[in-house]
Amino acid sequence: MEDFSNLVNWEKVFDQSEKFKKQEPFNFGYVENFLEKEFYEKLYENYPKIDDSWLESFHINKYMFVKTWSDVDEKGIIGEGDDPSFNEDWNKLKRYVQSEEFIENFRKFSGVPVTKLKEFKLIAYKKGGFQMPHIHHEGGNTLIFTVFFAKNWEKGDPGATYMCTDVDDDESIIFEPYNLDNTMEVFQDGPKAAHGVRYITKDVVRQGLLFTLEQYSSETGWSAGDQSTTKKKRETTAIEIE
Ligand SMILES: [Fe+2]
Repeated sequence: MEDFSNLVNWEKVFDQSEKFKKQEPFNFGYVENFLEKEFYEKLYENYPKIDDSWLESFHINKYMFVKTWSDVDEKGIIGEGDDPSFNEDWNKLKRYVQSEEFIENFRKFSGVPVTKLKEFKLIAYKKGGFQMPHIHHEGGNTLIFTVFFAKNWEKGDPGATYMCTDVDDDESIIFEPYNLDNTMEVFQDGPKAAHGVRYITKDVVRQGLLFTLEQYSSETGWSAGDQSTTKKKRETTAIEIE
């Protein structure tokens, strides 16, 4: 077994467990100092710069940059392989997020019966970046995480993923963090789990990592279906445009 000690600050995670479970109108949580400092700084230093290897995702409802691991299938679901274009610390983080220890801890944290890593990708927003508020609504057995790797974020600045109560009302934001330096947000998918990213006006880069944990069984497959969220949303967008 690979040694994954001193990577995640589990004490800080479990401190937020009760709060996560009691949030209304859907479960979400926010953890500061999510990764152990030394490990975080190495990941921060080696966060890939946005270049041609990133996918520029520009749609009616969002503008962001995405960089996936190479071991991903046509449905957008992550495999178990490393990707040498990321450094060893990043590959180690991915292996840990895929490990039973990590997933079991988030089952305990959330009370949600997740069993497997489904998506794992870097998502970055530059000036002009945004994502309209939306709800995935694919089932309650999915946890959606964003880990932030952005220093010197100013209080009140847009760019973090916010939680809201109404997708048609941008006044309905109930939570938006401004410390994006080694922090993590997680929410449980469901009919009320609305979220988005406000339009970024400053010349900054919101560096982030998105991953999802979901319930999976070899008999019935993924609880929310056999495609990644990103793939599904792209299809929906294409249909809307037609
Ligand atoms: Fe989303």
